[in-house]
Amino acid sequence: MSMWRPPERIRHEPVSGPWPSAERAARSRLFSPAQLGPLRLEQRTWVPAMVPWRATDDGFVSPNVLAWYERFARGRPGAIVIEATGIRDVPSGPLLRIGDDRFIPGIRQLADVVREASGGHTRLLIQLIDFLAMRRRPERGKYFERLLRITPEHREKMGLHDAQESVVRERLAALDEDALRTVLTPRELESLEHGYRERVTDVELEHIANLPRTLPKLFSDAAVRAEAAGLDGVELHYAHAYTMASFLSATNTRMDGYGGSREARVRLPLEVLSAVRAAVSRNFAVGCRFLAEECIEGGSSVDDAVWYATQFAKAGMDFVSVSRGGKFDDAKQPKVGEAAYPYTGKSGYECMPSYYSDKLGPFGRNLPPSKLIRAAMQAAGHSTPLVTAGGIHNFDQAETVLASDQADVVGFARQALADPDWFTKVMSGRGAEVRLCMYTNYCEALDQRHREVTCELWDREGLEQPGVARSTDGKRRLVAPDWS
Ligand SMILES: Cc1cc2nc3c(=O)[nH]c(=O)nc-3n(C[C@H](O)[C@H](O)[C@H](O)COP(=O)(O)O)c2cc1C
Ligand code: SF4
Repeated sequence: MSMWRPPERIRHEPVSGPWPSAERAARSRLFSPAQLGPLRLEQRTWVPAMVPWRATDDGFVSPNVLAWYERFARGRPGAIVIEATGIRDVPSGPLLRIGDDRFIPGIRQLADVVREASGGHTRLLIQLIDFLAMRRRPERGKYFERLLRITPEHREKMGLHDAQESVVRERLAALDEDALRTVLTPRELESLEHGYRERVTDVELEHIANLPRTLPKLFSDAAVRAEAAGLDGVELHYAHAYTMASFLSATNTRMDGYGGSREARVRLPLEVLSAVRAAVSRNFAVGCRFLAEECIEGGSSVDDAVWYATQFAKAGMDFVSVSRGGKFDDAKQPKVGEAAYPYTGKSGYECMPSYYSDKLGPFGRNLPPSKLIRAAMQAAGHSTPLVTAGGIHNFDQAETVLASDQADVVGFARQALADPDWFTKVMSGRGAEVRLCMYTNYCEALDQRHREVTCELWDREGLEQPGVARSTDGKRRLVAPDWS
């Protein structure tokens, strides 16, 4: 499954720009403190959530998870957000989980490791995620033999009212693609061609109808565990292709007071926030990540985001972090036996733009909307700090983001992966030693295949050295080499 690229295919290269001296860095906005509710950052730098595919199959923190965050912590950014972590106590493969108290000790160990490696300079948050069920794209034969539920509509359309079910199945399987389109519903076609995927609008399913009753407690229990584990805060995941973003989406047509109008779409996200707030202490930061734009047809626009942000600010979010795109709606068709992936379409490109781009390029695509969102919160009387991200890799760029009121805190996801020491290097006047991210999305392709995420700029370096932890296939080192 390849990723979508703008047809223009204009090649953009990251630029190092002038790196500051240590004195200039010390006077900069970027390396000045920020207050996010109860949370004081020593500098306005932030490593956004990145799933590295290193948890155990049961969702626990593994030695490789510890090593991954330890490496980021040594670079001493203002804050690190631990990868999207599941709030339910259900199996979800090697994705981190926090849906039960048994996950607390591992996360506490992670908090200790980050505190120690950063010398206490880096604050640590965790991204709390809920996602709905989805299945892999089935084999065609299997779909018609077993998976598809035969309905009176199928019989009606094929004139097979009294036929045995096995006959209906055989006849369906024999139809060509055009004929199938007239017999199957769009959702049935989707299940065949992309794999079954639940939506928040599937209210005929009891557990989906009940999400507004179940999610606030799931999120608040998870936040309580995060606080018990010694973290500094939580980032509620209201972005990309997942449950909470689907409530905010303009495509949410639920009729139960939790969909349709903006007011109704923001209701559950606000109810989750108040449940979380009520459950954690005042010293614990609660913020969210949401979309400045969904970047899909019929999706929420920056107008929606501006309005949501002011609601979030008014309701007491300690920070808002803005991302963009990353939806299932325009994802590419997966291969048989694979699951759809929300970063393969145009909206996925907007989320993690790579170096082949359009005129706008991959650097800072989310900055104009970030600025609008921040300005709207301020105009409504809220000084809620805004975190932005997307293609930021040099000092000037980051400093300009702050100086031009586009954000209060600057996120570096892939750049921090390419060089976790970016922050220490730049702050100490040694920016010339930074390994710049090339925005190739090699890391992202690994993520897509559920393989351990690494960066191509360092994962073959010093493989033979003793004690270097390697990927399952033995070909890549798992964390960036030391900087000496
Ligand atoms: C390997 C990888 C995993 C990611 N996982 C998450 C995630 O768990 N949650 C999230 O909100 N964003 C995730 N993202 C998106 C990043 O946080 C960030 O928004 C995006 O990469 C754009 O910023 P950048 O240009 O600085 O990389 C991930 C990105 C990458 C490359
Ligand atoms: S693999 Fe490395 S250089 Fe390529 S986009 Fe990812 S972090 Fe950047």
